Amino acid sequence: MAVKQVTLRSFETEDIKELHRWSNDPVSISMAGRVPLTYEQMENHVETKRKNGDLLLAVENKENILIGWVFLQNIEYAHGRASIGILLAPEARGKGYGKNVMEQMITIGFNQLRLNKIYLTTRGTNEQAIGLYKKLGFIVEGQLRKHAYIEGNYYDTYFMGILASEWKQKESNF
Ligand SMILES: CC(C)(COP(=O)(O)OP(=O)(O)OC[C@H]1O[C@@H](n2cnc3c(N)ncnc32)[C@H](O)[C@@H]1OP(=O)(O)O)[C@@H](O)C(=O)NCCC(=O)NCCS
Repeated sequence: MAVKQVTLRSFETEDIKELHRWSNDPVSISMAGRVPLTYEQMENHVETKRKNGDLLLAVENKENILIGWVFLQNIEYAHGRASIGILLAPEARGKGYGKNVMEQMITIGFNQLRLNKIYLTTRGTNEQAIGLYKKLGFIVEGQLRKHAYIEGNYYDTYFMGILASEWKQKESNF
């Protein structure tokens, strides 16, 4: 699939309304194995992330329409590591945006924040996400057995990571 170019900008308070919509779509809820969130809960969630020092960025397509967010969280400079998360609007999924969003955020993490490692966890059932992460060069470092409960069943969770040295190697081939 052709990669679609996006722009990353800072995530603003007025973007929370859209984030609330994307987070409450049935696929997001099912993937996260949780219940729908109220708008106020979503505001609190964003506020907590800001207080934690997470880097929150909004994603816009080339028509400048907000189509998702991406963030670095658990930023630990002593270890040079952070975890990454992404959520696209339901109508923007499966169109090739995810790759460019992740590439830009990973580059910020390694080249601007001087991280050494970026990692994430994802449900073994999230084939789209795992497919994207593998394509970007993330390696499965661990498989947590029956770690997540979703709609009556326990599922494995994958821990995946990429090192700055591996990303630089990839960048030199871009
Ligand atoms: C996960 C997410 C970020 C992926 O971004 P996206 O732009 O939708 O990704 P794409 O559909 O372009 O797919 C990316 C790659 O995944 C792979 N992929 C897609 N669907 C797949 C499937 N069903 N099985 C295996 N691999 C799949 C493909 O390799 C694809 O690349 P290609 O088609 O160019 O070869 C996005 O769908 C999303 O926000 N989903 C909801 C929230 C979420 O699950 N976040 C991640 C939590 S860990």
